[in-house]
Amino acid sequence: MCGIVGYVGHREAYPVIVKGLKRLEYRGYDSAGIALMNKGLTVYKKKGKVSDLEGFIKEEQLKSHIGIGHTRWATHGEPNDVNAHPHFSASGKLAMIHNGIIENYSSVKQDLLNKGYQFKSETDSEVLINFVEDIKNKSQCSLEEAVRLALTQIVGAYAIVIMSEDEPNKLVAARKGSPLVIGVGKDEFFLASDATPIVEYTNEVVYLNDFEIAVIEDNKLDIRNTQDIPTTPYIQTLDMELESIEKGGYEHFMLKEIFEQPKSVSDSLRGRLNAAKGHLVLGGIREYANTLVNADRIIIVACGTSWHAGLVAEYIFEEYCRIPVEVEYASEFRYRNPIIREGDVVIAISQSGETADTLAALELAKSKGAIILGVVNTVGSSIARITDEGAYIHAGPEIGVASTKAFTGQVTVLTMIALRIAFRKGTLSKTKYHELLVELETIPGKIQKALELNDQIKYIASIYKDAKNCLYLGRGYNFPVALEGALKLKEISYIHAEGYPAAEMKHGPIALIDEEMPVVVIATHDSSYEKIVSNVQEVKARKGQVIAVVTEGDQLMPKMADHIIEVPATHEALMPLISVIPLQLLSYHIAVMRGCNVDQPRNLAKSVTVE
Ligand code: F6R
Repeated sequence: MCGIVGYVGHREAYPVIVKGLKRLEYRGYDSAGIALMNKGLTVYKKKGKVSDLEGFIKEEQLKSHIGIGHTRWATHGEPNDVNAHPHFSASGKLAMIHNGIIENYSSVKQDLLNKGYQFKSETDSEVLINFVEDIKNKSQCSLEEAVRLALTQIVGAYAIVIMSEDEPNKLVAARKGSPLVIGVGKDEFFLASDATPIVEYTNEVVYLNDFEIAVIEDNKLDIRNTQDIPTTPYIQTLDMELESIEKGGYEHFMLKEIFEQPKSVSDSLRGRLNAAKGHLVLGGIREYANTLVNADRIIIVACGTSWHAGLVAEYIFEEYCRIPVEVEYASEFRYRNPIIREGDVVIAISQSGETADTLAALELAKSKGAIILGVVNTVGSSIARITDEGAYIHAGPEIGVASTKAFTGQVTVLTMIALRIAFRKGTLSKTKYHELLVELETIPGKIQKALELNDQIKYIASIYKDAKNCLYLGRGYNFPVALEGALKLKEISYIHAEGYPAAEMKHGPIALIDEEMPVVVIATHDSSYEKIVSNVQEVKARKGQVIAVVTEGDQLMPKMADHIIEVPATHEALMPLISVIPLQLLSYHIAVMRGCNVDQPRNLAKSVTVE
């Protein structure tokens, strides 16, 4: 949440920063702001999007070879011009951008108020920059030393970058809990919340660690920890194509990412699965494979869509590995004194690898002696780095705020882990194992076929675009898909939607059903098909409008449902990878028809780095 960008080098800073902010806008879009060194330290900031800010700054004000920029997801204080970043210190000599939350800001603020400081904004960030300035003035020390001293007294999460009018060629950055990447170019440096603003200029990056402070000046990068001990920057090479972060002819990133799924799922499988040879290799969990085989239970922690992927994994792990699985909302898990035994396996699922609650849940599990594994998309992210082992999903950057290809990538990787463990454990026969591997290899092609239903789904969307509510029902492996379908609809179209296990409907939600209520039923041909047919009858008896996702060739459902979406057949354990596709498309088209901003839905941000 909140995107930050910094630049110092031989280029004009403004275009680099504006472009970078646009790339990071998925992290928040309540306001945008930039600080440049142009006849002194100047800040331009405005409520709204980066494009609103662009129109507001005059050309001649923009010349600067150093600058910082911010796109905000509001936490402290409403989205307005004053609360927008960068924030000045009281003297106007320091400007700072911040992603995160300063938890002890009110006590720090009170101390500063007692000293006569005044604040323009309601933000915790303005408190921090004044705190730094206060220490600097009191101790007569360098900016970086003041930052270091300040941070030793700060509780919370931050990625910050500071500029100083007195040291016009210097950027000071620090992180704890919020991501910060430094791009190392030739005679230039880039700072950003993720690598997307950087990849165009250099593929050499340093991921700043928690409690590290970076000082960039005179073409040098110096990194120390908060004890002032220098560390050698570890420069990594980015594996990211520029085109992967551009829309590539699609109207929205979300649509592009939905259509990328045949490829992204193939990328998840690539180098790991060779069904003909019966090979399934997951290098990332080699060391702890035995631990998984012998685990008494597995705990999965995640949020949102990733939590839904965890639910699918629960079904697969329990069915094939015969290991009990608990799928926990990371935010609940970490605050309820959970029972974690030494040697327990905790798997975190996260697209961004930065979700604050998931990260904290993992830290808690680790502190209690659990083995922590990650199923993550973003390479080099915090979760990827703190886990003992893990497997990347290799879905490529996901920019649309609503998660699509990350879900199918997560389910693919978790399926591979479960099948591998089950086979090794002996709870899955060789024949069944091979059968599932062969089927898994066909999934990208079947996703492609499901995508060919786009026009039909668009038509269905046009019928239901004005619905006020919507119910999603599924059973077994398709129950998490129902939850995911409902989440997709509500988050991008603002239609109230609920996902339910179909059999639960009669315990309450059935009261909602009338002729106005669209009910999306995932009724593919699996072990609970007959049961879900009865649930559809219950809906129809109450005049609900049924949109049924069924397996190709289904004879029964077309006689009952109002609309049929036929997806290719597959093994029921793999069906979520296919049955979710029409639901993603349905939400997308409904949201577009309602005039919603699909890629940047209101109030949301992609990477939830606050608790
Ligand atoms: C929904 C969505 C969110 C995320 C959730 C977890 O479309 O994107 O629900 O799934 O915020 O994020 P990650 O996976 O980055 O931990």
